[in-house]
Amino acid sequence: MTQDEMKKAVGWAALKYVMPGTLVGVGTGSTASYFIDALGSIKHKIEGVLSSSHTSTAKLKNLGISVFDTNEIDSLDIYVDGADEINDYMQMIKGGGAALTREKVLAAISHKFICIVDITKKVNILGKRPVPVEVIPMARSYVARELVKLGGTPKYRQNVITDNGNVILDVYHLMITDAVALENQVNQIAGVVTVGLFANRCADVALVCTKNGVKEVIL
Ligand code: 5RP
Repeated sequence: MTQDEMKKAVGWAALKYVMPGTLVGVGTGSTASYFIDALGSIKHKIEGVLSSSHTSTAKLKNLGISVFDTNEIDSLDIYVDGADEINDYMQMIKGGGAALTREKVLAAISHKFICIVDITKKVNILGKRPVPVEVIPMARSYVARELVKLGGTPKYRQNVITDNGNVILDVYHLMITDAVALENQVNQIAGVVTVGLFANRCADVALVCTKNGVKEVIL
């Protein structure tokens, strides 16, 4: 299986968690996009979805799936999304698609977070890939200096404005030995909207696709 075939297999495998008549939280990215295709095949059986980005919303609406306003919904049974990295503790780096803040909100209101990844995303220690940080534009330089103090090397993601009108700093070389502590620390920097570390609210289930098929890991 190619990486793309693994993404597709795991996206469709997540369908078994979708209960009839429920609202489903939907993530962003190429793996989540396969999950959206899968949801389209059972669209008459679900009530609708909450979406984590304009991109996912456009695809969902195109398939005729009802997208609700997150402010009108108290909680979700499940939230299904990909990740850039996931470790054995189900902690993740997310935000490769710049949708980290809305993703974190949907994860926060969900009873179960189902992370769908191919095996290339599985790591022992988080931090091989950069950690995205969403920042309000006028605080970009200040936040970058604070991130350097934490040992990181921030890089401004050129030509990207998030759905919330902000910018992204991708932070390389962070030593992530305590992901919860680092998430809290970065979130305390003035001007940071969200850090793409999902450690306080980690995944409850990981569906990991290898060349041999999809394996379910439960915390
Ligand atoms: C978007 C995300 C994605 O889940 C993450 O970047 C993985 O993307 P892909 O499934 O395309 O590899 O966090 O903000």
